[in-house]
Amino acid sequence: MKPLFKGKHFITLEEWTKPEIDKLLEVSCDLKERFRNNKPTPYLRDKSIFLMFFEQSTRTRNSMESGMTELGGHATYLDTSTMQLAHGESPKDTATILSSYGHGIACRNCFWQIGNKYLREMAAHSTVPIINLQDDLYHPMQALADLMTIQEVVPSTKHLKISIIWAYATSHKKPISVPLSQILLFPRYAMDVTLAYPDGYELPDWAITKAKQNAEENGGSFRITHNMEEAFQGADVVIPKNWGSWVTNTSKDVIDDLLEKNRGWKCTEKMMALASPNVYYMHALPADRGNEVEDAVIDGKHSIIYREAENRLHTAKAVMAMTIGDK
Ligand code: CP
Repeated sequence: MKPLFKGKHFITLEEWTKPEIDKLLEVSCDLKERFRNNKPTPYLRDKSIFLMFFEQSTRTRNSMESGMTELGGHATYLDTSTMQLAHGESPKDTATILSSYGHGIACRNCFWQIGNKYLREMAAHSTVPIINLQDDLYHPMQALADLMTIQEVVPSTKHLKISIIWAYATSHKKPISVPLSQILLFPRYAMDVTLAYPDGYELPDWAITKAKQNAEENGGSFRITHNMEEAFQGADVVIPKNWGSWVTNTSKDVIDDLLEKNRGWKCTEKMMALASPNVYYMHALPADRGNEVEDAVIDGKHSIIYREAENRLHTAKAVMAMTIGDK
C-alpha cells in the first residue's frame, strides 16, 4: 500500500480535504476487514513512530502501539515526564531529534492554550509527520473513528440528526477537543448537527463560525440549544459527553458551582425515549458512568460504544499507513 499522504501532518481534519478523509476511511475499512480475517498488513515494515503522552490514555495509546505492530513497524511509548522536555527542552529540539531517529511522531498534549501550539511548533521543525493524539482543541483520531462508526451503522449521513450534548461528570476537567472536532467534521458529511450545553460550557466562537460554514458548504445544518430535552428529541445519534468550561474559566478545578448547577445533564433512559426509536448512543470513552450516563443506556441496545472504540484501531492504522513512508 502506497502512503498517499506521505509526510502530511495530521493535526486537525480541517486541514484534510473530504476526498483525503474518504481515502482514510476506505483504508480503515480495508484494514478492519484484513484484521478480522488475520490477513497480514506489513505496510510499515522497519518503520518506527514515537508516541509522546503528556496525559493518560487507554484507547489512543494502545490503538497506536498495537496498530504499528500490526503494520510491521515499531512504536516507542514516551511518558513525557521522563523526557528532557520535563527539564525544559524545546519542542523544536525534541521534534528535530526524534524525526532523525524514526518515521513519525505522535503526541497528546491537552493543556489549555498550550497543546495545539506545542504540536504546531513540533510540525514546524519535524521532517516526519506529526500526528495529533489529542490536544486542547482537536482530537482528529477520535472524530475519524466516530465518522467511520456512523457510516457503518446508517445508510446515509445526509440529514442525519446528530446531537452533541454536554453531560455532567466529576472525573476530571476534560478538554473540549472531542465536541469541537465533531462539530467541525460532521456538517462536512451533510449531517444536521445540534450542539447542546448549559451556559458556561461554550465552545470557541471561531469553531462555531466554522461549523456553520462547513454546514452551508456541504448541505448539512448546525444549531445550538441550551435545552437538553430539545437535543434528544427525534435524534438519530446522540453523543452526550462532558467537557470542561475552558472557554469561560481557565481554572483547572474539576468541581465548581457551575458544574454542580448542571447535575441534571445526564443521559437517562427517559431522555433516550425522546430520540428516534433506532437512535444510536455514542461516547468517545472513558465515560463517567452514573454521572454522564445511566448504565442502562451505555450498556443498552442503542449503545455502539465498543464498535466506536474498536474503530480507533483501524483508523489509527490508516492514518499511520497513509502518512508514514521512506525517509
Ligand atoms: N477516547 C480517547 O481518546 O480515549 P483515551 O483517552 O483512553 O485515549
